[in-house]
This record gives sequence, C-alpha cells and structure tokens, in this order.
Amino acid sequence: MNSELKIPNHVAIILDGNGRWALERGLKRSKGHDAGFKNLKSLSNYILSCGVKVLSVFAFSTENFKRSKDEVDYLMNLFVNGFKNEKNYFVDRNIKVIFFFFFSNLRDDVISAMDSLEEITKDGTKGILNICLNYGGQSEIVDAVNKIILDGVKEVDCELFSKYLYQDLPMIDLMIRTSGELRISNFMLWQLAYSELYFTNTYFPDFDSHEFDKAIDAYNKRDRRFGGVK
Ligand code: FPP
Repeated sequence: MNSELKIPNHVAIILDGNGRWALERGLKRSKGHDAGFKNLKSLSNYILSCGVKVLSVFAFSTENFKRSKDEVDYLMNLFVNGFKNEKNYFVDRNIKVIFFFFFSNLRDDVISAMDSLEEITKDGTKGILNICLNYGGQSEIVDAVNKIILDGVKEVDCELFSKYLYQDLPMIDLMIRTSGELRISNFMLWQLAYSELYFTNTYFPDFDSHEFDKAIDAYNKRDRRFGGVK
C-alpha cells in the first residue's frame, strides 16, 4: 500500500455475502461461512499490518438467531473450533482479540472459547481485532443506560457515556459493508456517528487485501468535516 495514504484508526466491517458466495458456486451456505472465516484471518492481519489500530467485525447479530437451527449450530461450532484452533495465528501475529457480545442465548462453549482467545491474546500490540458476536448496537446503548442508572449517575456527557459501552473504543473512521447491501443493520450505532461509509458488491469471502486497498483509496478521496465547513 502507498505510504502517503491516510490510514483510518478504526475500521469496521459488516461481513456479508458468505451464503451467496457459496450458492453461486453450487456449494452449501456453510461452505461460504468456512471461506469467510478463512478470509477474516488473513484480512485482519493485513488490515492491522497497514497501521489500522482497531478492526471491528460483525460476525453474528442478535437477530441472526432467527436463521435455521442447522445454520446457527454450524456457525457456533465454527466459532468454537475456529477460536480454539487459530489462537496461535493471532498470538504469532501479535493481534489482541476482544469480543463485543450479549451473554444471553450464547452456548457456554462459545463463551469459553471467546474468553480463552481474549486471555491468550491480551498482550498483542499490533492492533485490536474486535469480534462482535451476538451483538446489537441498540442493546449496547440500552445496556449502557442501565449501567448508568444502576451507578446512580444523574447526568452524562458523550465522553462519560462512551465509558459505559462494552469497551471504550475510538470512534469508527471507515465502515465497510460487503455484498451490495446498503444498510447499517444495528451495528455499532454510537461508534459510527462520523464514520465514512464504503459499500462494495464483493462478497465477504472475496474481500481480500486488494479490495481493502480500494476502500482505503476511496477513504482518501473523502473530505471529512465532522459537521464543520470547508
Ligand atoms: C454473513 O453472510 C455472514 C454471517 C452472518 C456469518 C458469520 C461470519 C463468518 C463465519 C466469517 C467470519 C467469522 C468470524 C469468527 C468473525 P450471510 O450468511 O449473511 O450471507 P448472505 O447474505 O449471502 O446470505
């Protein structure tokens, strides 16, 4: 990548199109999820190697539990096995993995695989891979409000409020959604406030380092004003 380019501090990706990627190849949807997971491994390493400090990805929304039991079970098994089998991949590349998630409905083995991956990668200094799994942006905000009420806090400002979110991450600079859908889908609503949005028709398993470079080129052409004037 060209070293003159501005690199966003926090990138978020809505991973979409695994199912269509597989069906178009005459494969089962589950094969698309396998390909998506494989892609996420190398892509996250590439993105954090470019100087991005935080990469947040939407792996599974609270609403994704509405999918068939077979697909949900497949995904949960993929997460458990993937997090267990690939821990050295993240450790060796110095990547710190964290999770944004909602406890309820998640199987114990998924929670324990997430805990172990967080623990073993906690000293990673190259960058943070934040995996949002059983996550919803509105619930994150409502959970924060409830914690604030429990703490008896009478007044908050944006700075204090963000400390009550799942983790106090920097605001998202660039949000990418693959597969042609033009929606935010309840992803990191607070953190997206001033994000640049990039939509591509490419399905997630094909969204590789070259596709990411194209998103960075587009980001570099944007004029970020944060509500100010030119
Ligand atoms: C989106 O494609 C993918 C998901 C909802 C599944 C989760 C993502 C992965 C398995 C890849 C990364 C894995 C981890 C652990 C972060 P879709 O099924 O919505 O595709 P479609 O819109 O074409 O049906």
